[in-house]
Amino acid sequence: MGTVETAKGEETGASAAEGRKDALTIKDERTGRVYEVPIKHGTIRAMDLRQIKTSPDDFGLMTYDPAFMNTAHCTSRITYIDGDKGILQYRGYPIDVLAEKCTYLEVAYLLLYGELPNRKQYDEWVHAITYHTMIHESLKKVMDAFNYDAHPMGMLIATVAAMSTFYPEGRDVHDPAVRTKQVHRLIAKMPTIAAFAYKHSMGMPYVYPSNDLDYTSNFLTMLFKTPAENYKPNPTLVRALDILFILHADHEQNCGTNAMRGIGSAHTDPYSALAGAAAALYGPLHGGANEEVLKMLAEIGSISRVPEFIKEVKEGKGEKRLMGFGHRVYKNFDPRAKIIKRMAEEVFEVTGRNPLLDIALELERIALQDDYFVKRKLYPNVDFYSGLIYQAIGLPTAAFTVLFAIPRTSGWLAQWGELLEDPEEKIARPRQVYLGASERPFKAMDKR
Ligand code: CMC
Repeated sequence: MGTVETAKGEETGASAAEGRKDALTIKDERTGRVYEVPIKHGTIRAMDLRQIKTSPDDFGLMTYDPAFMNTAHCTSRITYIDGDKGILQYRGYPIDVLAEKCTYLEVAYLLLYGELPNRKQYDEWVHAITYHTMIHESLKKVMDAFNYDAHPMGMLIATVAAMSTFYPEGRDVHDPAVRTKQVHRLIAKMPTIAAFAYKHSMGMPYVYPSNDLDYTSNFLTMLFKTPAENYKPNPTLVRALDILFILHADHEQNCGTNAMRGIGSAHTDPYSALAGAAAALYGPLHGGANEEVLKMLAEIGSISRVPEFIKEVKEGKGEKRLMGFGHRVYKNFDPRAKIIKRMAEEVFEVTGRNPLLDIALELERIALQDDYFVKRKLYPNVDFYSGLIYQAIGLPTAAFTVLFAIPRTSGWLAQWGELLEDPEEKIARPRQVYLGASERPFKAMDKR
């Protein structure tokens, strides 16, 4: 064995007391040299590998990790997930407890500030959000400019990005007071923008927010009230939607949050960063899946067609997927899906049973005993049943991802604030493994 090179790092107290060294010894067979790399919180620092070189001018060893399958890009104190055990906690509180006992705005406060609010804090917080729900009339005109059949997510993304031009002070991302103001604005205005996008797609006049309503009742009212008819939201549906908001509020480093942090790391204003995060969410493999589930259930059409559809998915070998199934992190069950499945029954008591529910239940029943899905640990995820509830509430399929974006706004902003306060924060800039052509002579066009 060669000499042992050590990288700087801290040993954890626990392992030192046990006489164990938290370190990884690596032997580079190319040079025969041995390196010791510290392990902290079950990780090694990728930069510690840079010292592993074949010669002084060698760049040093990197890790290759497409899709960040095994790379932690930050430390976080917001959301904890144990995918094997099906655990999801916000700031240490289990998701089912929060869903049962809190309002969405209480949970949003918890995500952003780390603690559940006391009565005074809660009242001030709700007041601040309530009094920022109106959008600038010119922003409304921006929304008016969209075609009648514009996808609500496309409208939401563009409108949120446009907000950066209405609130240019938001660019001062290092001032906590300025940040707080933009947090209030974004959480407050997302439902208004979402409801206006829906009204636009229906060719109906916008309904302005009402300060005497709570967050979720106000949203439902902006969606369903018309000049011709008043609307009083059903308390069961309000509570169901509020719980769905809680369940969707944060999910640690998923594709959208990674976009929020990636863009935020350039110190971009929160509106532009959040528009990027929402764009990631739009994708059918991410938040767009709830819309795809409903399309899939409609395509299947009847319980008798379920076995045939499952067969097509299996034979499609990844080409055709069972939407609303599978998760990068959950390999046991998605705790959010369990809560939503229970809640669906309560909602259907008010709205009448969604006929697609029976197809979904049969799909789940067959898939959970089919070797293909069992072997790959594919279980229903948050999107499998949420769409059925949204549909029962009366929302069109195209609006489903918008309903995901509204509550995820608090999670994105909590992650963004944590990033900006992180002493290790730097602009995100991954490396690549270049496999293209090496330097070659230029050919004039007539010689190509
Ligand atoms: N239906 C059929 N096969 C699947 C599915 C599915 N829904 N999901 C994964 N597989 C198969 C996949 O073909 C692969 O098989 P093989 O090993 O034979 O190649 C294996 O399972 C592993 O799949 P993967 O694509 O490597 O897994 P991943 O962790 O990269 O993908 C996922 C996770 C959520 C993108 C994927 O499961 C999927 O596409 N699900 C359907 C879309 C969906 O419901 N998305 C919502 C996710 S939860 C909410 C959110 O994140 O926004």
